[in-house]
Amino acid sequence: MGSLEAVDKRDGGTAFGGYDVLHAVSAINEEIAQSLRGRDARDQAGADAAMIELDGTENKSRLGGNALVATSMAIAHSAASAEKLPLWRYLGQSQDAFFLPLPEIQIFGGGAHAGRRVDVQDFMVIAVGAENYEQSLEWTAEVYQAAGALMSEAGLRQGVADEGGYWPTFEANDQALDYLVRSIERAGLVPGEDVAISLDIAATDFGRDGKYRLAADDREVDSDGLIEMLLSWLERYPIVAIEDPLGEDDPQAMAKFTAAAGNKVEIVADDFICTSADRIRSAAGIKACNTALIKPNQAGTLTETKAALDASRDDGWDAIVSARSGETEDVTIVHLAVGWGVKQLKVGSFARSERMAKWNEGLRIADALKQDGGKLPERQAFPWGKNS
Ligand code: PGA
Ligand code: ZN
Repeated sequence: MGSLEAVDKRDGGTAFGGYDVLHAVSAINEEIAQSLRGRDARDQAGADAAMIELDGTENKSRLGGNALVATSMAIAHSAASAEKLPLWRYLGQSQDAFFLPLPEIQIFGGGAHAGRRVDVQDFMVIAVGAENYEQSLEWTAEVYQAAGALMSEAGLRQGVADEGGYWPTFEANDQALDYLVRSIERAGLVPGEDVAISLDIAATDFGRDGKYRLAADDREVDSDGLIEMLLSWLERYPIVAIEDPLGEDDPQAMAKFTAAAGNKVEIVADDFICTSADRIRSAAGIKACNTALIKPNQAGTLTETKAALDASRDDGWDAIVSARSGETEDVTIVHLAVGWGVKQLKVGSFARSERMAKWNEGLRIADALKQDGGKLPERQAFPWGKNS
């Protein structure tokens, strides 16, 4: 998690371990409602600017980034329903075609999502060879089942981590990678061709001042050592994307890694840019990465989220719309990905209702697109598929 995110305001105290959100809810029902009453919901930018001003802090800590982002999404939903359109279609009115994003799905959880059992946070797969969204989900489900079976056979299966990926009972970080490749093969698919690997290193969580403690491998490395390890993984495994390869306080090393690997794989910034247009522009200035992770709750309003996406596009980057750990069953982010024409979607694993709700919403949107009567240009139907 990045240190510059809009503040997710919790109540503190003893109820629900301090994680209750009654303050954020009353901020919405009282102050925010009063200031927005009478506005036209179609003026998203105006409403979001009014909320930012009302909050008055740099990081939305007074009313809560969670209060603002929930209201901002509700405004978009009401505008879409007033226009009698699903949100994705409403948001994408200026687009000439829609496509479903390519799912990036976690198979093993790790890092802060699994008691730091291994250091890397997400071991994910991307069905780069799938023909369409449905097939990418089917293949991923098969890889997920195969991973579970392999772990059972090895006596390593112990339930799932935060976002639904298997609990990583591995001896070392690269053992998880070996299992990932074997899971793809066991599912009858070709690693790197049908299904590739994507990692979220989330290095900010185990590194500071250019020193990284890899607890699972029982060693400490400096920035160059971490870069060397990641480059060797790129040689050994069919990896197509690496998120937060270095810590948020290590921009020069990020740039060094991008210079070495940025022409081969997506180097995704999450903690480093925190869905901020300004931070994306500075990151672009030093060529720190080539892909932006876009999380609405890091920004705090949809207007700022879209501004971050636009900034990343201006820089020629790819973008990935992403959920968080600790999600609800809300499916707005799927509509944002489709409506804004974003090619990738990251939602955690292929288990647990808050994750499946989003993958399933994508299926509903795919159905709606099919009923469009072939208005979709074929090659735009799926961004990475064999047709495109
Ligand atoms: P987080 O993890 O929600 O715990 O930050 C998701 C991610 O890093 O992409
Ligand atoms: Zn991340």
